[in-house]
Amino acid sequence: MDRLLQDKAVVVTGAGRGLGEAFAVHVARAGGAVVVNDVDADLAERTAETIRGHGGRAVANGYSVADPAQAQAIVDQCVAEFGRIDGLVNNAGLNYEALPWEDDVEQARQLVEVNVLGVMYTGLAAIRAMVGAGGGGSIVNISSGASLGQRKLGVYSASKGAVASLTYSWALDLDDSGIRVNAVCPVAHTRMVWKSERALRACPPERTPAKIAPLVLFLLGEGAHGITGQMIRCNGPQLHVMGQPYLKQPILERPDWDTETVQQAFDEVFSAHLENYGLEKRVPPRLRKWSRQAS
Ligand SMILES: NC(=O)c1ccc[n+]([C@@H]2O[C@H](COP(=O)([O-])OP(=O)(O)OC[C@H]3O[C@@H](n4cnc5c(N)ncnc54)[C@H](O)[C@@H]3O)[C@@H](O)[C@H]2O)c1
Repeated sequence: MDRLLQDKAVVVTGAGRGLGEAFAVHVARAGGAVVVNDVDADLAERTAETIRGHGGRAVANGYSVADPAQAQAIVDQCVAEFGRIDGLVNNAGLNYEALPWEDDVEQARQLVEVNVLGVMYTGLAAIRAMVGAGGGGSIVNISSGASLGQRKLGVYSASKGAVASLTYSWALDLDDSGIRVNAVCPVAHTRMVWKSERALRACPPERTPAKIAPLVLFLLGEGAHGITGQMIRCNGPQLHVMGQPYLKQPILERPDWDTETVQQAFDEVFSAHLENYGLEKRVPPRLRKWSRQAS
């Protein structure tokens, strides 16, 4: 497994610190050439220097993924420096906690620009280059378990849900081009976790970013041949596939629905089919009298 990414060129966004830095260092250790991107150019350069210091191949840039021209420039740099692009780790991201009635629209916009548009811009640029070269490739989008819904994380979780949807859709579109698209839901002790008491409780310091890197490397490498459209979660000790959203049975059908028949459907049928919601699996109020969960 040592030279898993020998002769491959990989872009890692947000690689100046945290998970992205670990992904970039591990890609280089596996023989891959790396474009180390981070909007904090000094940190990106520091990661690239560390890689070069250990005999690896890396170049850095301080472009923002949230700007379409700069996202294109990240991918162009990879092709210009290394003659190809085989992998993209869409890792750059922002996070903050806020109750919905206290949320700030400007902060929400900035987060969506990086976490959603940034992933789209960089992904689209990489896909165009990969499709043009005709040699396949691998895209690893960094999503989050928060995409299932988490308290105080509405905007962040929505952005990571968007990343999940992009992953499924791109995987479908790119199946025939040999470009695999998967998502990773990591949990690791980084700056993002230090900011949240709840996250700190769930993520002790020994859960380092390095513990997630082998999963990302696997998905980038040929060993993951035939694996696409999947969301995989790793929190250090646990590794599992996230379930795919699906159209749930029973699907009731009638020529049209008025409010009365919708009410009837819920009273007679769907009450028994409501699902616990959010990452914490909260029981819907209508079902609480049948469960032990306090309201
Ligand atoms: N740490 C966790 O437990 C955890 C859990 C789930 C998902 N994630 C996701 O993993 C990814 C990495 O998170 P982290 O914990 O390492 O956070 P981090 O804050 O330590 O690192 C994120 C990096 O992204 C960079 N960045 C921000 N905006 C950018 C932009 N516009 N262009 C380029 N770079 C930009 C930052 O400068 C920073 O270096 C994020 O997408 C995050 O949402 C992390």
